[in-house]
Amino acid sequence: MTDRIEGARTQSRLERAFQKHVLSHLLDDGMRGVEPLRGELLAGVGGRVLELGFGTGSNLPYYRGRTAGMSELVAIEPAEGLAELAKERLDRWTDRTGVPSRLEVLSGSRPLPFDDASFDRVVITFVLCSVRRADVMLAEARRVLAPGGRLVIAEHVGARPGAMRTAQRVVRPAWKALLGGCDPLTDARGAIAAAGFDTGALGDRRLELPWIVSSGLVGEATVASDAATDRAR
Ligand SMILES: C[S@@+](CC[C@H](N)C(=O)[O-])C[C@H]1O[C@@H](n2cnc3c(N)ncnc32)[C@H](O)[C@@H]1O
Repeated sequence: MTDRIEGARTQSRLERAFQKHVLSHLLDDGMRGVEPLRGELLAGVGGRVLELGFGTGSNLPYYRGRTAGMSELVAIEPAEGLAELAKERLDRWTDRTGVPSRLEVLSGSRPLPFDDASFDRVVITFVLCSVRRADVMLAEARRVLAPGGRLVIAEHVGARPGAMRTAQRVVRPAWKALLGGCDPLTDARGAIAAAGFDTGALGDRRLELPWIVSSGLVGEATVASDAATDRAR
């Protein structure tokens, strides 16, 4: 079974209710188009796994548990209303798969309470666009990854120069204001490289999301050599 939800209750009842009963549906329904992508990306994820920005647990159906050699799933989600819902789903997942799990109500862009080199995979999907300190989140991901570990990524990103990028620039202020700071021009590849990952195996990909955020970056990044990290910075 999963542990209890860790973390102080700092959000108001209204905020938690909004997250649990409104935002959760927006996330679940609005992101159905990327479900095949989740399946493709997560099927081989094994070992001890940390997922940052767990949301409602949309990735859960696509982890293959012991079949893929998963030994534990640790989930981090700061929005308490989403975390309440996600914990119910995580408990059911653990009952079904037999893989231990736990959920902590924490920001993933602060120092995390995990040892260095203690995870085999860190999974981040559709989170970097709205995180205030993506640099800290990615530095923590790098710190907790064991040698040979991988960062598993799916993000919508700023498009290459052209009509889509121009449109992203135009709608950006309103989009960010309406959607909790979500930035259609996010440079996820640059941020991942600057945090010390080799992004060579990450691929550009058209996402089944609204057109304005359909430019994607998907795949796995490994820890780069120190020289490559210096070049990226
Ligand atoms: C668009 S949702 C994506 C949820 C899920 N990862 C998915 O693939 O559907 C973005 C999630 O990132 C979470 N988030 C925002 N800031 C965060 C932070 N600093 N640390 C961890 N998660 C964060 C939000 O609460 C939300 O659950």
